[in-house]
Amino acid sequence: TNQNILLYLAAYLIAGIPFGYLLAKQFAGVDIKEAGSGNIGATNVLRVVKEKDPKLAKKLGAITLFLDAIKGALVILVAMMLDAPESVLWTLAVLAVVGHCFSAFLFFEGGKGVATGFGVLLIMMPIPALIAIVVWLIAAKGLKISSLSSLIGLVAFIIASYLIYPEVPGIGSHAPIWIIAFIIFYKHIPNIVRLFKKEEGKV
Ligand code: G3P
Repeated sequence: TNQNILLYLAAYLIAGIPFGYLLAKQFAGVDIKEAGSGNIGATNVLRVVKEKDPKLAKKLGAITLFLDAIKGALVILVAMMLDAPESVLWTLAVLAVVGHCFSAFLFFEGGKGVATGFGVLLIMMPIPALIAIVVWLIAAKGLKISSLSSLIGLVAFIIASYLIYPEVPGIGSHAPIWIIAFIIFYKHIPNIVRLFKKEEGKV
């Protein structure tokens, strides 16, 4: 329907807003696409702004994480209020991650999908997402490597989603979860290469 098309467009476009890039540029005067890992996510905001101002870096990193996480989730919440079926909600979840990772505002470049992915998954599957966030926090604290912790959290989510929902309510298949996971994994290939070469830095 027309309403669904508008929701899909909103999810893709709103999730494409590169908050990390905008905040770092506006409040720290740095172009994070040209510094650190070049990524537009919270990790790179923290990493790059830290060199100028550690306190500001923490603040901007946290705000980036928060905004990147809610931007996709918000559209899903609106769709839920409009009584959209599960198939539409899951399509919105996938489109939000696509929007963040292949942004309409960055010539289809973008982030790595971790914050936005967890934001939408928290709405779609709260218990597996909370388990994944706990695993991610423990990994991040122990390893201090953002990318590896994100990937461990992602694997934890996939496992928890199968254990708690052998069939995804309303749609049956875990396909949208695998699409989101594939995008996040694909975007982390440079990190994975660095991890194998033992060149991935700590944060
Ligand atoms: O959220 C992205 C994170 O997993 C890795 O970021 O900047 O270290 O490539 P970065």
